[in-house]
Amino acid sequence: MKKMTAHFTRSPEGGKPARDRRPAWDERAAGGAQKAGGKGVRPGDRPRAGALVADHQKPREKPLALSAPRYLALCAYNIEPLVAAELRALPEVTGVEVGSGQVSFAGPPAALYRANLHLRCASRVLQLLGDFAYAGADELYEAARGIAWEEFLSPEATMAVSARGLGPGIDNSMYAALRVKDAVCDRFRARFGARPDVDVQQPMVRINVQLYSGPTAEARCALSLDSSDPPLHHRGYRHSGGEAPLKETLAAAILAHTGYPDIGSDPASPTAADAPGGPEMPPLVDLCCGSGTLLCEGGLRALRVAPGLSRRFGFMTWRDFDPALWQRLSDEARGQRRPVAEPFLYGADLNGRALAAAERSLEAAGLMTYGRLCCGDLRDAEPPPGGPGIVVCNPPYGERLGDEAQLVELYRGLGDTLKRRFAGYTAYVFTANLALGRQIGLRPSARHVLYNANLEGRLLQFKLY
Ligand SMILES: C[S@@+](CC[C@H](N)C(=O)[O-])C[C@H]1O[C@@H](n2cnc3c(N)ncnc32)[C@H](O)[C@@H]1O
Repeated sequence: MKKMTAHFTRSPEGGKPARDRRPAWDERAAGGAQKAGGKGVRPGDRPRAGALVADHQKPREKPLALSAPRYLALCAYNIEPLVAAELRALPEVTGVEVGSGQVSFAGPPAALYRANLHLRCASRVLQLLGDFAYAGADELYEAARGIAWEEFLSPEATMAVSARGLGPGIDNSMYAALRVKDAVCDRFRARFGARPDVDVQQPMVRINVQLYSGPTAEARCALSLDSSDPPLHHRGYRHSGGEAPLKETLAAAILAHTGYPDIGSDPASPTAADAPGGPEMPPLVDLCCGSGTLLCEGGLRALRVAPGLSRRFGFMTWRDFDPALWQRLSDEARGQRRPVAEPFLYGADLNGRALAAAERSLEAAGLMTYGRLCCGDLRDAEPPPGGPGIVVCNPPYGERLGDEAQLVELYRGLGDTLKRRFAGYTAYVFTANLALGRQIGLRPSARHVLYNANLEGRLLQFKLY
């Protein structure tokens, strides 16, 4: 694909760019202690000390392995329904239950493999091995020792234990990790005369310990294996260069809220399906695309490419890993990719380095031929050919980039551009600065609360007439 350089008189990176022309879409071819779970019942919640002490006298239940495999898809707050919808679309998944910061489900190993392969919005998938009440560190140790870890790791394997939360006798989550590590090692030594080594960087099996308060404020512990490791936002396509990039999973949640690519036209209509090269997608326009995360996630959705197809997962080094099953499921996922007419992904940014990163990301995601990138100011943007489609972007909002006072003008300009030039489109602006969001000057037709790490943000929807 032909590449042309942007025609700005000064480098967009250095100093104020000359706003001497509008971006032209064909300029450049694109080549925890986290809380999770409900009020007082979330794995990872710090147990409320008063409530815990009152409950400690209760006789402890025997912990131990769950009768049927149960899994937890962890995610940012408020996107649980999106994750639940993704899970319900997977054939082997059963018993989907929405929690807070997590969605639990059941099913055979295929359900676990498929969840890792197909979930776009979840951050990781855990296989739960035990969930039990405990009164102190020794009980935690005993319960952990009672779990059949040898089903998942051999004495020759390497492991790491991560822990979150505090509880009775445990005022440092590292201590919980240490006791669980000792329990696993002691169980192996007693049974096999050898124990797995610890490798905190790249373990074959990563054990997850969550200490939390149960429904009656009892201290509970959930022990699980991290089947994703590393987390699911590691898609493997993104290149550095853009500033303040969105996590891929947050970008996917934003795209899920837009409904893209099914945004009004009938994707199964004969005309669309018969178009040369495949159905035409509505244009997806990011006016300040940075490293191109929204474009990549939108492109993968449109082409029905599973987000986990080009990476490895933690479960692949578990003892019970079934490579033939994985091969079948990943082949099936590859077969779901559909041809789509190009181009439909349009990205602009003032920063040339960010655009170079966007180009590399699109290329790595296999989306290069569907993209058009250009260097320019979002206030000068024109809609691309075709459409209408959607505009989706997250302009700087002062937390890490830019200065709020200067950004007021940018947000006003964005509102003006959308109103004057993007009639027929629906725009989605994600910002963690609500005051700046109001500067857009348009009435949002919908708002969604989304979290960018620990920053509460809003995804604002504007219908443009
Ligand atoms: C928060 S970042 C976007 C990150 C992007 N979503 C990603 O995932 O990489 C905001 C972007 O806006 C760009 N930007 C700032 N002012 C701009 C303007 N006036 N016109 C176009 N882009 C602008 C910055 O260069 C930066 O890449």
